[in-house]
Amino acid sequence: MRQHVNPLSKNFFELDPIPPLNEVFENPKLPLHLDIGCAAGDFLFELSLKNKNWNYIGIEIREKLILNANLKMKNREYKNLYFSFGNANNFFDHSKNKLLIDSINSISFNFPDPWFKKKHHKRRVIQSKFINFLSNSMQKRSLIFIKTDVKELFNYMELTISESIKFKKLANKEFRLNDSFNPNKIQTNREKYVLSNQLKIYESIYIKI
Ligand SMILES: C[S@@+](CC[C@H](N)C(=O)[O-])C[C@H]1O[C@@H](n2cnc3c(N)ncnc32)[C@H](O)[C@@H]1O
Repeated sequence: MRQHVNPLSKNFFELDPIPPLNEVFENPKLPLHLDIGCAAGDFLFELSLKNKNWNYIGIEIREKLILNANLKMKNREYKNLYFSFGNANNFFDHSKNKLLIDSINSISFNFPDPWFKKKHHKRRVIQSKFINFLSNSMQKRSLIFIKTDVKELFNYMELTISESIKFKKLANKEFRLNDSFNPNKIQTNREKYVLSNQLKIYESIYIKI
Protein backbone atom coordinates (compact mmCIF):
# COMPACT_ATOMS: atom_id res chain seq x y z
CA MET A 1 0.00 0.00 0.00
CA ARG A 2 1.24 3.51 -0.78
CA GLN A 3 2.62 5.27 2.29
CA HIS A 4 1.97 8.76 0.98
CA VAL A 5 -0.48 10.25 -1.44
CA ASN A 6 -0.36 13.78 -2.75
CA PRO A 7 -3.24 15.61 -1.04
CA LEU A 8 -3.17 18.28 -3.75
CA SER A 9 -4.12 15.76 -6.43
CA LYS A 10 -7.51 16.45 -8.00
CA ASN A 11 -8.66 12.96 -6.87
CA PHE A 12 -9.42 14.46 -3.48
CA PHE A 13 -11.45 17.50 -4.52
CA GLU A 14 -14.80 15.71 -4.43
CA LEU A 15 -15.75 14.14 -1.12
CA ASP A 16 -18.84 12.35 0.07
CA PRO A 17 -20.64 14.28 2.78
CA ILE A 18 -21.05 12.68 6.18
CA PRO A 19 -24.73 11.75 6.67
CA PRO A 20 -26.65 13.57 9.42
CA LEU A 21 -25.34 12.53 12.82
CA ASN A 22 -28.61 10.88 13.84
CA GLU A 23 -28.16 8.44 10.93
CA VAL A 24 -24.57 7.68 11.89
CA PHE A 25 -24.53 7.45 15.67
CA GLU A 26 -26.81 5.75 18.15
CA ASN A 27 -26.75 8.89 20.31
CA PRO A 28 -25.99 11.95 18.15
CA LYS A 29 -26.05 14.22 21.21
CA LEU A 30 -22.80 12.87 22.64
CA PRO A 31 -19.71 15.07 22.36
CA LEU A 32 -18.00 14.62 19.00
CA HIS A 33 -14.31 14.18 18.24
CA LEU A 34 -12.71 14.29 14.79
CA ASP A 35 -9.37 12.53 14.20
CA ILE A 36 -7.63 13.77 11.07
CA GLY A 37 -5.28 11.35 9.32
CA CYS A 38 -6.64 8.37 11.26
CA ALA A 39 -4.81 5.80 9.05
CA ALA A 40 -6.32 2.32 9.59
CA GLY A 41 -8.42 3.60 12.49
CA ASP A 42 -6.92 1.39 15.23
CA PHE A 43 -6.75 4.33 17.63
CA LEU A 44 -10.40 5.21 17.04
CA PHE A 45 -11.59 1.59 17.29
CA GLU A 46 -10.01 1.41 20.72
CA LEU A 47 -11.28 4.83 21.81
CA SER A 48 -14.83 4.10 20.69
CA LEU A 49 -14.99 0.88 22.70
CA LYS A 50 -13.46 2.44 25.83
CA ASN A 51 -15.42 5.72 25.75
CA LYS A 52 -19.04 5.10 24.97
CA ASN A 53 -19.86 8.63 26.05
CA TRP A 54 -18.16 10.17 22.97
CA ASN A 55 -18.78 9.91 19.24
CA TYR A 56 -15.75 9.67 16.94
CA ILE A 57 -15.18 10.44 13.27
CA GLY A 58 -11.95 9.56 11.48
CA ILE A 59 -10.83 11.15 8.21
CA GLU A 60 -8.12 9.55 6.12
CA ILE A 61 -6.82 10.30 2.64
CA ARG A 62 -5.76 6.73 1.76
CA GLU A 63 -8.98 5.18 0.53
CA LYS A 64 -7.91 1.56 1.03
CA LEU A 65 -7.45 2.16 4.75
CA ILE A 66 -10.99 3.50 5.06
CA LEU A 67 -12.41 0.61 3.02
CA ASN A 68 -10.70 -1.81 5.42
CA ALA A 69 -11.85 0.13 8.48
CA ASN A 70 -15.42 0.02 7.20
CA LEU A 71 -15.16 -3.74 6.69
CA LYS A 72 -14.01 -4.06 10.28
CA MET A 73 -17.04 -2.00 11.37
CA LYS A 74 -19.27 -4.75 9.96
CA ASN A 75 -17.78 -7.45 12.21
CA ARG A 76 -18.75 -5.72 15.39
CA GLU A 77 -21.29 -3.09 16.19
CA TYR A 78 -19.65 0.27 16.79
CA LYS A 79 -22.38 2.71 17.71
CA ASN A 80 -20.21 5.77 18.15
CA LEU A 81 -17.73 5.56 15.28
CA TYR A 82 -17.68 6.68 11.64
CA PHE A 83 -14.92 6.79 8.99
CA SER A 84 -14.73 9.11 6.03
CA PHE A 85 -12.29 9.01 3.13
CA GLY A 86 -10.72 12.16 1.69
CA ASN A 87 -8.42 15.11 2.10
CA ALA A 88 -9.27 16.80 5.38
CA ASN A 89 -8.37 20.17 3.86
CA ASN A 90 -11.30 19.87 1.43
CA PHE A 91 -13.59 18.18 3.90
CA PHE A 92 -15.48 21.26 5.01
CA ASP A 93 -15.83 22.65 1.49
CA HIS A 94 -18.86 20.42 1.16
CA SER A 95 -21.86 22.38 2.40
CA LYS A 96 -23.22 19.36 4.30
CA ASN A 97 -19.94 18.79 6.11
CA LYS A 98 -19.84 22.49 6.96
CA LEU A 99 -22.89 21.95 9.17
CA LEU A 100 -21.00 19.30 11.12
CA ILE A 101 -18.50 21.80 12.45
CA ASP A 102 -21.09 23.09 14.92
CA SER A 103 -21.19 19.70 16.63
CA ILE A 104 -17.46 19.17 16.97
CA ASN A 105 -15.97 19.37 20.46
CA SER A 106 -12.42 18.52 19.54
CA ILE A 107 -10.10 17.68 16.64
CA SER A 108 -6.81 15.78 16.75
CA PHE A 109 -3.89 15.88 14.33
CA ASN A 110 -1.79 12.94 15.49
CA PHE A 111 1.62 12.61 13.87
CA PRO A 112 0.67 14.21 10.55
CA ASP A 113 2.89 13.52 7.53
CA PRO A 114 5.87 15.89 7.84
CA TRP A 115 6.51 16.51 4.10
CA PHE A 116 10.07 17.58 4.94
CA LYS A 117 11.05 19.33 1.70
CA LYS A 118 10.15 23.01 1.65
CA LYS A 119 8.49 22.72 -1.76
CA HIS A 120 6.16 20.07 -0.24
CA HIS A 121 5.10 22.07 2.83
CA LYS A 122 1.91 22.97 0.98
CA ARG A 123 0.94 19.28 1.22
CA ARG A 124 0.92 19.39 5.01
CA VAL A 125 -2.52 18.93 6.46
CA ILE A 126 -2.31 21.97 8.72
CA GLN A 127 -2.54 25.00 6.44
CA SER A 128 -3.41 28.63 7.26
CA LYS A 129 -6.57 28.46 5.15
CA PHE A 130 -7.79 25.37 7.00
CA ILE A 131 -6.98 26.85 10.43
CA ASN A 132 -8.67 30.06 9.41
CA PHE A 133 -11.82 28.15 8.51
CA LEU A 134 -11.72 26.24 11.81
CA SER A 135 -11.12 29.42 13.79
CA ASN A 136 -14.17 31.03 12.21
CA SER A 137 -16.46 28.06 12.55
CA MET A 138 -15.63 25.89 15.55
CA GLN A 139 -17.65 26.46 18.69
CA LYS A 140 -16.09 28.45 21.50
CA ARG A 141 -14.16 26.22 23.95
CA SER A 142 -13.71 23.46 21.41
CA LEU A 143 -10.17 22.05 21.26
CA ILE A 144 -7.46 21.23 18.72
CA PHE A 145 -4.81 18.65 19.69
CA ILE A 146 -1.54 18.45 17.79
CA LYS A 147 1.12 15.79 18.33
CA THR A 148 4.29 14.86 16.44
CA ASP A 149 7.82 13.59 16.88
CA VAL A 150 9.15 16.03 14.25
CA LYS A 151 10.27 19.25 15.93
CA GLU A 152 10.31 21.29 12.73
CA LEU A 153 6.76 20.21 11.88
CA PHE A 154 5.68 20.99 15.44
CA ASN A 155 7.07 24.52 15.19
CA TYR A 156 5.33 24.97 11.84
CA MET A 157 1.97 23.75 13.24
CA GLU A 158 2.29 25.92 16.33
CA LEU A 159 3.09 28.96 14.22
CA THR A 160 0.23 28.31 11.81
CA ILE A 161 -2.35 27.84 14.57
CA SER A 162 -1.11 30.72 16.69
CA GLU A 163 -1.50 33.06 13.70
CA SER A 164 -5.20 32.86 14.44
CA ILE A 165 -6.15 35.11 17.34
CA LYS A 166 -9.15 32.87 17.96
CA PHE A 167 -7.05 29.95 19.19
CA LYS A 168 -5.21 30.13 22.49
CA LYS A 169 -2.68 27.56 23.67
CA LEU A 170 -4.07 25.70 26.65
CA ALA A 171 -1.90 25.56 29.76
CA ASN A 172 -1.52 22.09 31.31
CA LYS A 173 -3.40 23.15 34.42
CA GLU A 174 -6.38 24.29 32.32
CA PHE A 175 -6.73 20.91 30.61
CA ARG A 176 -9.15 18.38 32.09
CA LEU A 177 -8.08 14.97 30.87
CA ASN A 178 -11.16 13.21 32.24
CA ASP A 179 -13.47 15.41 30.18
CA SER A 180 -11.43 14.96 27.02
CA PHE A 181 -11.97 12.60 24.07
CA ASN A 182 -9.10 10.39 25.29
CA PRO A 183 -9.22 10.15 29.09
CA ASN A 184 -7.26 6.87 29.15
CA LYS A 185 -4.40 8.31 27.08
CA ILE A 186 -4.73 5.61 24.43
CA GLN A 187 -1.79 5.80 22.02
CA THR A 188 -1.92 5.93 18.23
CA ASN A 189 0.17 3.43 16.26
CA ARG A 190 2.76 6.05 15.39
CA GLU A 191 2.89 7.13 19.02
CA LYS A 192 3.58 3.54 20.14
CA TYR A 193 6.41 3.31 17.61
CA VAL A 194 7.88 6.65 18.68
CA LEU A 195 7.73 5.75 22.37
CA SER A 196 9.23 2.31 21.82
CA ASN A 197 12.15 4.02 20.07
CA GLN A 198 12.47 6.51 22.92
CA LEU A 199 11.97 9.48 20.63
CA LYS A 200 10.60 12.77 21.89
CA ILE A 201 6.96 13.72 21.40
CA TYR A 202 5.92 17.35 20.95
CA GLU A 203 2.32 18.19 21.68
CA SER A 204 0.01 21.13 22.30
CA ILE A 205 -3.65 21.79 22.82
CA TYR A 206 -5.43 24.88 21.52
CA ILE A 207 -8.78 26.21 22.66
CA LYS A 208 -11.14 28.28 20.55
CA ILE A 209 -11.84 31.54 22.34
C1 LIG B 1 2.08 9.47 9.82
S1 LIG B 1 0.46 8.91 9.63
C2 LIG B 1 -0.17 8.95 11.29
C3 LIG B 1 -1.34 8.07 11.48
C4 LIG B 1 -1.99 8.11 12.86
N1 LIG B 1 -2.60 9.38 13.14
C5 LIG B 1 -1.02 7.75 13.95
O1 LIG B 1 -0.71 8.61 14.78
O2 LIG B 1 -0.59 6.58 13.98
C6 LIG B 1 -0.40 10.29 8.89
C7 LIG B 1 -1.72 9.89 8.27
O3 LIG B 1 -2.39 11.04 7.78
C8 LIG B 1 -2.95 10.76 6.50
N2 LIG B 1 -3.12 12.05 5.81
C9 LIG B 1 -2.13 12.81 5.28
N3 LIG B 1 -2.64 13.94 4.75
C10 LIG B 1 -3.99 13.89 4.94
C11 LIG B 1 -5.06 14.75 4.59
N4 LIG B 1 -4.84 15.91 3.96
N5 LIG B 1 -6.32 14.39 4.93
C12 LIG B 1 -6.54 13.21 5.58
N6 LIG B 1 -5.57 12.35 5.92
C13 LIG B 1 -4.31 12.68 5.62
C14 LIG B 1 -1.94 9.83 5.88
O4 LIG B 1 -2.42 9.08 4.79
C15 LIG B 1 -1.55 8.95 7.07
O5 LIG B 1 -2.41 7.84 7.22
